[in-house]
Amino acid sequence: MAQNGTIENGMSQNEAPPLPQPVKVQEIKYTKIFINNEWHTSVKAKKFSTFNPATGVKICEVEEADKADVDKAVEAAKAAGKRGSPWRRMDVSSRGRLLHKLADLLERDRSLLATIESMDTGKPFLQSFFVDLDGCIKTLRYYAGWADKIHGKTMPVDDNFMCLTKHEPIGVCGAIIPWNFPLLMFMWKIAPALCCGNTVVIKPAEQTPLTALYVGALVKEAGFPPGVVNILPGFGPTAGAAIASHMGIDKVAFTGSTEVGQLIKEAAAKSNLKRVTLELGGKNPCIVFADADLQLAVEEVQKGAFFNQGQCCTAASRVFVEEPIYDEFVRLSVESTKKIVIGDPMDPRTSHGAQIDQQQFEKILELVESGKREGAKLECGGSAVKEKGLFIQPTVFSEVQDHMRIAKEEIFGPVLCIMKFKSVEEVIDRANGTQYGLTAAVFTRSVSRALTMSDALEAGTVWVNCYNALHAQAPFGGYKMSGNGRELGEYALAEYSEVKAVTIKLTEQQ
Ligand code: NAI
Ligand code: MG
Repeated sequence: MAQNGTIENGMSQNEAPPLPQPVKVQEIKYTKIFINNEWHTSVKAKKFSTFNPATGVKICEVEEADKADVDKAVEAAKAAGKRGSPWRRMDVSSRGRLLHKLADLLERDRSLLATIESMDTGKPFLQSFFVDLDGCIKTLRYYAGWADKIHGKTMPVDDNFMCLTKHEPIGVCGAIIPWNFPLLMFMWKIAPALCCGNTVVIKPAEQTPLTALYVGALVKEAGFPPGVVNILPGFGPTAGAAIASHMGIDKVAFTGSTEVGQLIKEAAAKSNLKRVTLELGGKNPCIVFADADLQLAVEEVQKGAFFNQGQCCTAASRVFVEEPIYDEFVRLSVESTKKIVIGDPMDPRTSHGAQIDQQQFEKILELVESGKREGAKLECGGSAVKEKGLFIQPTVFSEVQDHMRIAKEEIFGPVLCIMKFKSVEEVIDRANGTQYGLTAAVFTRSVSRALTMSDALEAGTVWVNCYNALHAQAPFGGYKMSGNGRELGEYALAEYSEVKAVTIKLTEQQ
């Protein structure tokens, strides 16, 4: 910035800066398995393809990790974390500096990473750049700050002893992550794990391996010792299952479907009782009271339902609207939904991209059909967009009843289901009437009502007059079948540490 208040290129301070641009990607550089800071072909010499869901075009082939590759990675991660290793001997402040360095490299390569993320997922480039990458960088920096602040306590104990606790790394942490926020979920897993001094074996989803592999190169460039982070592209029932049941892995963190979450916990129990944290599905209630700021509620609920093409565990998938404002809420929601721009994810005008793959695409359309059949009123959308690529129109149903499949099952697509309610007690019971408990949202101008509702709702996160407000500093995770444990914030540190009590017999009376 020059002294006279203009930016060097002559643009006045009041003008918006130019939008970031996608990078022309000629070739995907990193497609192999990343173990010990080196690139490996798979033991079985297998590869799989990754596709751009917006075009259906194959992007490249990637090495396919299986059990034997997981074994190699675990061996590397164990060696990297053992007593006397550079990683274990490293000053805790240096650990923090490495995480900051990785964040610096993400900032340097932000446009390229956002481009690759959008190619692999079909999400709008500007979302990848401003939301996903922003979250990644902030998560790394937040945990970088914690690295030298993880410590135990001393406590008074009976008799003539002294007791102190130490918070130690757990060891090798496995991570299995989904395709909806590939890079962000990668950082949610590795940042707290590394900050606490663990080593990591991580498997990205088979649909979206590319940004994770690129980060492998950045991990090496940042200066993490070999074996501290190992990245294995591959499939769930093979590489994923090998991580969940591995005797050499001390903890596994998973984000994905509730069904697979149960398999992971079972595999952990039957192998070595490794620690498990799970972040699973949701059928998140969103409650709009008649006293709410209606325009704000409509806008936030839109974000909640359609952000990331509805592929969010936090999606606003059951919207309860109080009777006096119900018709107006539906009308404004439809009006707003019709303005959403579906199209090429690389085009800056696009606000709505493609669904991830054929399976999800079909699942969503089948649920939309069930909604029509079961008598919900289709207000807009409701079909695939007839072009190449896996695009589905943002869809609004009104008159949704609690027993309908669209009100019970996680849709994971751009479908807004609006329901009507009359009383506070009724809506609390209906909102909590699900096996899930990930997030909930309340829109009201009454502080008292907001607090009553946040007490009553069975969810790990309650948003008041906002939606999808996630921060690296605040914990995130589910009640009930939405998961176990918490990610982010100080709370996640406990999920990546063992607590050791050291009790010392004193020979002299204190
Ligand atoms: P998924 O749970 O099968 O996949 C998530 C991750 O788990 C991927 O890395 C996958 O390779 C791995 N995985 C799959 N089977 C495994 C196994 N047996 N052992 C170990 N790892 C395994 O989810 P999927 O099939 O992609 O989507 C199905 C539904 O799950 C979606 O429609 C949505 O409802 C939900 N989902 C929820 C997510 C969330 O953020 N909570 C993310 C992705 C999906
Ligand atoms: Mg699956």
